[in-house]
Amino acid sequence: MTPEALADLHAACFTQPPPWSAASFRDMLADPACHLETSAEDASLTGFALFRVAADEAELLTLAVAPDARRQGHARALMRAGLAAVQARGARACFLEVAAYNAPAIRLYQALGFGLQGRRNAYYCAPGMVPVDALVFRAGLG
Ligand SMILES: CC(C)(COP(=O)(O)OP(=O)(O)OC[C@H]1O[C@@H](n2cnc3c(N)ncnc32)[C@H](O)[C@@H]1OP(=O)(O)O)[C@@H](O)C(=O)NCCC(=O)NCCS
Repeated sequence: MTPEALADLHAACFTQPPPWSAASFRDMLADPACHLETSAEDASLTGFALFRVAADEAELLTLAVAPDARRQGHARALMRAGLAAVQARGARACFLEVAAYNAPAIRLYQALGFGLQGRRNAYYCAPGMVPVDALVFRAGLG
């Protein structure tokens, strides 16, 4: 999967936090600590989840499913496959941050067994945008 395709899908899914550039994705794909999980239909990218593993902890860096492919179970499948992969690489827990207003993602993470760990006030802030709190979730693996 190319960095450009990942950046295009990310831009279709995020305004705040802002979408990531192809260069950012290129750097992360080159990082051996990162794990990319993708789902493709008809050769086009419908969704992806990007994780990073450090020692026995994993972090979900981002998750995106194309707007016209949502509510079909893609994110749940990407997360399950990605969590199994990072567990196989030695992770015993996975952490993630999500904007406090993002009810669909929060419901997904809770359904997957993630529990709320804390709140980071005004964590997402960009020029011209109202700062948004982040919620930190954790799931044990294995
Ligand atoms: C959040 C997101 C990844 C979900 O992708 P998806 O493929 O539509 O999710 P799934 O179909 O796998 O849904 C799995 C579960 O998540 C929850 N969920 C997903 N979308 C939901 C919505 N719009 N409203 C309420 N619950 C939702 C439900 O519990 C759902 O199970 P159900 O369909 O059996 O009720 C997708 O909406 C997205 O890309 N949003 C923009 C980017 C984003 O917010 N990423 C996460 C940031 S941390």
